[in-house]
Amino acid sequence: MTKRAIITSALPYANGEIHLGHVASTYLPADVTTRFLKLTGVEAYYVCASDDFGTPILIQSEKEGKSPAEYVAHWNKRDYEDFSSFDIDFDYFYKTSSEENITFVQDVFNKLNDAGHIYEQEIIQSYCTDCEKFLPDRYVKGSCPHCSAEDQYSDLCEVCGRIPEEILNPKCAICGKPPIKEKTNHYFFKLKNFGDSLHQWLEENNHLQKDVKKYVQNWIKSGLIDWDITRDISWGVPVPLDDAKGKVFYGWFDNHLAYISTAIKFLNDKGIDGKEFWNSAEIYHFIGKDIVYHHYLFLPAMRLGIESEYKLPDYIPTRGHLTLQAKKISKSRNWYIGLKEFLQFYPADYLRYYLVSINPYSQDDLNFDWDDFATRINSELIGNLGNFVNRALGFTKKAFDGTVPEPETFDEKDSEAEQKIKSLSSDVGTLMEQNHLDRALKKIMEFSSYFNQYFQHKEPWKKGPGTANCVYLSVNAARSLAIAILPFMPTSANKIWNQLGLGDTISAKWVDMSELGISANHSLGEASPLFSKVESEDIENHKKQLGPSE
Ligand code: MF3
Ligand code: ZN
Repeated sequence: MTKRAIITSALPYANGEIHLGHVASTYLPADVTTRFLKLTGVEAYYVCASDDFGTPILIQSEKEGKSPAEYVAHWNKRDYEDFSSFDIDFDYFYKTSSEENITFVQDVFNKLNDAGHIYEQEIIQSYCTDCEKFLPDRYVKGSCPHCSAEDQYSDLCEVCGRIPEEILNPKCAICGKPPIKEKTNHYFFKLKNFGDSLHQWLEENNHLQKDVKKYVQNWIKSGLIDWDITRDISWGVPVPLDDAKGKVFYGWFDNHLAYISTAIKFLNDKGIDGKEFWNSAEIYHFIGKDIVYHHYLFLPAMRLGIESEYKLPDYIPTRGHLTLQAKKISKSRNWYIGLKEFLQFYPADYLRYYLVSINPYSQDDLNFDWDDFATRINSELIGNLGNFVNRALGFTKKAFDGTVPEPETFDEKDSEAEQKIKSLSSDVGTLMEQNHLDRALKKIMEFSSYFNQYFQHKEPWKKGPGTANCVYLSVNAARSLAIAILPFMPTSANKIWNQLGLGDTISAKWVDMSELGISANHSLGEASPLFSKVESEDIENHKKQLGPSE
């Protein structure tokens, strides 16, 4: 049977634009991986959705005088457009507020409830008598008990980064009046029940990153706490119980279930049995390290709680956060770069190249630096890859009128070069399978650099005896490069393919890069430079566009 895979990446809140921080740690690695899996013949689908529910979204929509549905529809569309222009190629992009997801979430809740994993408990919560509303999370503002910063949300102090146990001088975030305390009933998920089964699942799954596993195991050891999974607000998935009128689920109860409901909706629409596919596929959830708790504990516990009716993840590739010029990204201080804005200046492939290169398979933070970006594009992408392809193709055009010459007996150097081509697919493929996308890309660049040196060493412009072999092998190496970079830089890969006279889009499989797929007498297409230089004046201007540095 063909191997199957479903790939997801953390669902973006429908609450503002996508910036470089988002794409670096999740969407890009997931996209590169999906493209790779597809190239190797895996039946792989990349699904995503906007994360539509939650208090911050409701508050923001109220501020903008829009209905929450209108508000999230706007961001769903905009995010999808931005992703597409970055060549993030979702097979399907849906939303957590879809009918399918709402039904699915309610169904999962009912099953958890029937299995005894849910209980109801009275809690005391802030209530605004003016607005006649309970005030969860962000609905209360006040000063932080730890650092005294004013005007902080009750669920997070953005100044000291701590979660206040009890915010001081609480005020309703809508009308500014001090709230009172009221009793309300909430529903809780018995996460405590799952310590042992989570521990066992983590032990048995050896695709998960060891370091993450270790600290998650420590959390389990130190004791899990049950989750309050409901909120008294109007925007969310309604709790499907008669005595839970006006209550909806907390966003983190419903959002990750959209991985499953979205995949199933997409597959069923294609005429594939979605549930059967899910359960026979390798499941990948790409995330950033800030949501480890949710994906390594909460999400698997909920699936375990319904008898693993839907398979648990095989891979949860977890990466660090992007900093910008070595400082934490902050939207409110304008210390960020919007994806759309970036792509007005540079092609998607430049950013894809740069962000993969600096992004290891680990929790370490990575840093976007404008000067480093310019250097890497100019010296690596242009100086190495672009230079080699242009040289090989340009020379064939000039010296052989664009027709690949008949090779002769290989000398030692030629045989070594041929060997490099033969082993490329497994050299790079092994790293890709281990999620080391940065190292895989580096391997490809080493291959390119090797062929630059080979070309230089052979001096084909002297038209000596080895010329035909050099041209033949170099043109083939360019073809191998096109296939190898396809997951990373799809547009440039297809450009090379086109310049090689092989068609507009690559039709080859991953292993084909290790064949000498271009034979003698093949005519190349038109050669032209693949990339253009990143100018330092522009870089200085981009730096100035960023907000005040502190
Ligand atoms: N919207 C959440 C965030 O940005 C991520 C949700 S991932 C989910 O932190 F799939 F689990 F929904
Ligand atoms: Zn109020």
